[in-house]
Amino acid sequence: MKTVRIGICGLGTVGSGTFNVIKRNGQEINARAGCAIQVVQVGCRRDNPACDLRDVEVTRDIFAVARNPDVDILVEMLGGTTTAKDLIETAIANGKHVVTANKALIAEHGNELFAAARAKGVSIAFEAAVAGGIPIIRILKEGLSANRIEWLAGIINGTSNFILTEMRDKGRSFEDVLAEAQRLGYAEADPTFDVEGIDAAHKLVILGSLAFGMPLQYDKVYTEGISKIAPMDVSYAGELGYRIKHLGIARKHADNRVELRVHPTFIPERRLIANVDGVSNAVAVKGDAVGSTLYYGPGAGAEPTGSAVISDIIELSRTLLAPPEYRAPYLGVQDDQLTNYEILPIEEIETCYYLRMSAADQPGVLSKITQILSDAGISIEALIQKQPHEHDMQVPVILLTNSVQEKKINQAIALIEALDTIVGSVVRIRVETL
Ligand code: HSE
Repeated sequence: MKTVRIGICGLGTVGSGTFNVIKRNGQEINARAGCAIQVVQVGCRRDNPACDLRDVEVTRDIFAVARNPDVDILVEMLGGTTTAKDLIETAIANGKHVVTANKALIAEHGNELFAAARAKGVSIAFEAAVAGGIPIIRILKEGLSANRIEWLAGIINGTSNFILTEMRDKGRSFEDVLAEAQRLGYAEADPTFDVEGIDAAHKLVILGSLAFGMPLQYDKVYTEGISKIAPMDVSYAGELGYRIKHLGIARKHADNRVELRVHPTFIPERRLIANVDGVSNAVAVKGDAVGSTLYYGPGAGAEPTGSAVISDIIELSRTLLAPPEYRAPYLGVQDDQLTNYEILPIEEIETCYYLRMSAADQPGVLSKITQILSDAGISIEALIQKQPHEHDMQVPVILLTNSVQEKKINQAIALIEALDTIVGSVVRIRVETL
């Protein structure tokens, strides 16, 4: 049996998970790969006590792994976009195939790295970059490859989903849950990437490119995180029969323009995806032939993400034994068939909206708000006005609108905020019925 030699750089959460699963499941992995997968070198700043490194050469110089003539596949598990990029470029220059879980690097520099790999006749695989253990890259590239993808919508940041779930179920504070997500190894090194939507935007741009066959355009993704979601919005969502989820949405219009957006979203609570809780991820994909599909599983963690990394190692090991022209293209279609679809500015998207405002407890306030909306041609699907708390001069007013262009709702919100009976700003959350 031929041996495929692996070098792993980075022994943090995902690197250690990958290393341990290869060790534990070696027999099954080798049988599926059709060759012996052997970790010959690990490059890491320090040993990880979770890994038994006795049978493997360890170096503190990760670039030595990228240059090692005895390594066939370099597994980049560092994260970040600087050293990791240099490392992958060095590995490619040295004729090595690369497996990475690095969504930021693929989203921001994938086009360039794929070109470098193509020129060298090697491959980069990145199944673990999106949705942890869910094989969503392969589903888009292979399982659904007969379809015209109409849209996809995913819960693709486990930390945000964990925080929203705990806020809803246990009334815990945002900070408290975020600290737990960091302890459990779900959160990014810089957790603002999770709570400000950046991590989800990295993943969405990869999914969108695979779904529609377009180059990666990370700078065009509309990005909003969950950090401004107040506990009362979580509870009003429940009263209205909805749940708030942080979604990444990619949709292709009939005129070939594309939406790429990540933001908190109201979803009717009866939808399956609205019931995906905790650190779990789920991606709904609508194809013209297959219809609506949903993929669910762990979106983060050592071994779930390691499982995705190893699936790439197996796939690459198989293709290592085959000619390069049999390798699947990076973004689903052949590189010369990628199309630069126009990405819609967020002002042009159309959806329903949840609005929450604080109004003076006076006669006529509601009619002024509804007048502004009706003048803009926006109809109201639901309206709740709460009683003021004792001694409180203001009442919360909650509205659900019908579908309207973002530009129009923003103009109406500006008029509502200018009313002298409205205190502070209007909270606006988009609603998707999926
Ligand atoms: N920080 C990421 C998340 C890890 O919470 O989903 C997996 O990419």
